[in-house]
Amino acid sequence: MSQHLFLPLVMLAMCPTPGAFPDSGKVTELREDCGRPEPSARILGGSDAQPRSWPWQVSLHQGGGHVCGGSLIAPSWVLSAAHCFVTNGTLEPAAEWSVLLGMHSQDGPSDSAHLRAVAAILVPENYSSVELGADLALLRLASPARLGPAVRPVCLPRATHRFAPGTACWATGWGDVQEADPLPPPWVLQEVELRLLGEATCQCLYSRPGPFNLTFQLLPGMLCAGYPEGRRDTCQGDSGGPLVCEEGGRWFQAGITSFGFGCGRRNRPGVFTAVAPYETWIRDRVMGSEPGPAFPNQTQEPQLGPREPREENCTIALPECGKALQPGAWPWAVQVTVPGFRPCHGSLVSESWLLAPASCFLHSGTSDSGPSDLDAWRVLLPSQPHAERVARLVLHENASRDDAADLALLRLRAPVNLSAALRPVCLAHPEHYFLPGSRCRLARWGRAETAPGPSTQLEAELLSSWWCHCLYGRQGAPVPLAGDPPLVLCPAYREEEEAGRCWNNSGWTLVCREKGTWFLAGIRGFSGSCLRPRVFAPLQTHGPWISHVTRGAYLEDQLAWDWGPEGEITEPQTCPPHTEHGACGLRPEAAPTGVLWPWLAEIHVAGDRVCTGILVAPGWILAATHCILRPGSATVPYIEVYLGRAGASSVPQGHQVSRLVISIRLPRHLGLRPPLALLELSFRVEPSPSALPICLHPGGIPPGASCWVLGWKDPQDRVPVAAPVSILTPRLCHCLYQGILPPGTLCVLYAEGQDDRCEVTSAPPLLCQTEGGSWVLMGLAVRGSQELFAAISPEETWISQTVGEAHFLPPSGLPYWFPESGDLCPPDLAGASGFPGAAALFLLLLTPLIQGW
Ligand code: ARG
Repeated sequence: MSQHLFLPLVMLAMCPTPGAFPDSGKVTELREDCGRPEPSARILGGSDAQPRSWPWQVSLHQGGGHVCGGSLIAPSWVLSAAHCFVTNGTLEPAAEWSVLLGMHSQDGPSDSAHLRAVAAILVPENYSSVELGADLALLRLASPARLGPAVRPVCLPRATHRFAPGTACWATGWGDVQEADPLPPPWVLQEVELRLLGEATCQCLYSRPGPFNLTFQLLPGMLCAGYPEGRRDTCQGDSGGPLVCEEGGRWFQAGITSFGFGCGRRNRPGVFTAVAPYETWIRDRVMGSEPGPAFPNQTQEPQLGPREPREENCTIALPECGKALQPGAWPWAVQVTVPGFRPCHGSLVSESWLLAPASCFLHSGTSDSGPSDLDAWRVLLPSQPHAERVARLVLHENASRDDAADLALLRLRAPVNLSAALRPVCLAHPEHYFLPGSRCRLARWGRAETAPGPSTQLEAELLSSWWCHCLYGRQGAPVPLAGDPPLVLCPAYREEEEAGRCWNNSGWTLVCREKGTWFLAGIRGFSGSCLRPRVFAPLQTHGPWISHVTRGAYLEDQLAWDWGPEGEITEPQTCPPHTEHGACGLRPEAAPTGVLWPWLAEIHVAGDRVCTGILVAPGWILAATHCILRPGSATVPYIEVYLGRAGASSVPQGHQVSRLVISIRLPRHLGLRPPLALLELSFRVEPSPSALPICLHPGGIPPGASCWVLGWKDPQDRVPVAAPVSILTPRLCHCLYQGILPPGTLCVLYAEGQDDRCEVTSAPPLLCQTEGGSWVLMGLAVRGSQELFAAISPEETWISQTVGEAHFLPPSGLPYWFPESGDLCPPDLAGASGFPGAAALFLLLLTPLIQGW
């Protein structure tokens, strides 16, 4: 489509005017004139240019504002980038554009500044998108520029011209000074020194996966300039502008700013359109204009730098931030002391800036107009003997209102020299996604009330954000997909166990490691509840603010990309329902079977027997009476309960909790010993991904549920197995086991071919997962049986009265225990108790199972 539009223009310009090119005296004159700014008179990491130092730099305006740069190559011709003028394959009309010449700042008119309309825009026929090259354009001005000290053309290289790798050249423009951070007023032209990179070096850098795990293939006609370590680069808005190199007192344009991956990122130098290969294309288009552009001969041999390294063994830049010799000995850990207050812990984020919670400074002599006594503040840096002084305090605009924005930046009076013992922590770009399973640490942050106890484990492992999202009561809320920026960071870590006390200490920040590099990933939780783990607010949303203020904080790309089972989830998930007491029965879809059954408890009875128990409330376990109490014995044994053991691999080691049982409660039953027992724990177990109560369901079986018997295959190693089962209708159950069933017994049928059965002496539970995603406890195995379970729901009243916080879901579906007449059993089933095999097959064929009622 684009070809249609610009082909006629290209063709027009291609018609040569015989004899008009180029060796007339006039042209020679201009040649001498090109590429020479007045004697003596940024971009990313650049600085303000001196007026008139880059007199060929033009600003291309569309709709009243600066869009791209360009360079004056002849009085009526400007060189720029094709992508500035092509939108969705269509070349924009020349009439929409104007060229501003002789500009220094975009702030206001100056003597030399003048504007020209654009008569024609010419783009190579084979241009389609920046990554495919040929990103250049010629603009013919409606009338020639007014040449003078501030307006002069640049020299163009001939096709044979060689710019040696390593040459220091300069790029100029009014583009962004950081990613998504526009040049601030008064919009003074920026300049930055960039080194030309050889093709092999550049390709080598781009062959290493960078942002978004992407690599890139350089094409002929492209040129790279910049540094492997990044930090100096062109950026959005610089496109079309020149990259110029000085040779023999003249400036030649080696490149046209074209594109990059982000701006100033490590191993991602800027990509320019090489100008020399387009000599003929340019000459052909401008043919006939007088005076034309100048292509002076290359006067000096290109100085060949050190031999170009081969692709395989080039030196890629490693992160300069986030390196610690030893976890915990953080070279970025700083302390700010405000007179009269305890020190406030923060982090070094660049040579000159610290990040700390704003709450440390909000009440310490800080007024709206800023703190009065910065002079008296002192900063203690790691490995530095003397305290540093603070020059400036910048509070986040939402600092006082929003916990997740409780941030302040402090500028040191003098930048520090970085070393192995003193270096900034890495910060994340907004699109950074810390993978579940990442190894993290909690680090001191702010002015916490209580010091961490000696046994506090500061190690943490990131869980899928599903956990915290759903645990913290966003029921029914859509869970961010893997790869979408999470709303919370959810680390599993060991908290101090304090009997009956709910911690409330927010003096932590979360640092996470990717490929050996530490990132400041999140700040203090939104506390106020006892839920575990405490969630952290992702810090990457503040990356743009931090880099805007500091202009040099170390924002690093995501370094690890192994998504694990998380990445397979592409369907949006929603959080299962909660009860009035909070979340229950949560289990992530992505959890591999056998892992993470947070309500599954090991009950060690008198040291020799192990029973299965189910956490039904923070201080209560439900278990089978026959497993807990010896027949006939009336004494209460010594019982220990362990949670967080099931699924050893998914929750970091050491996340188990143990409790003593202080009482055993049995419902009042006449005659037989009741099948279910409630065990009261010595103190609460705060809900967390390794210890979370299951949901209970009054009445029948939740409609559409899928059900499982959960237990251990072997009571020795106690690796959980879940065997899929169907629950039979009461009538079938009754018929199969006629006469021997106590009331309130559920019977199940194992899925065909299922031989992963649970061991029965530990009394495994029967669970169902509802359509809404909640896991519900239905029953506990009857002594010695794999198929019969003592149902929970007949004991609803007893459970709610004893426990108080049991998670009964709202009733749904039909009641299970409806009255039935007993004489409807098919004749061959009656009495087939104890061996339901053949009969069950028959049932499967003839009779609807309980599911789908
Ligand atoms: N395409 C950008 C523009 O339109 C120029 C980007 C240059 N980026 C870089 N990292 N060198 O202004």
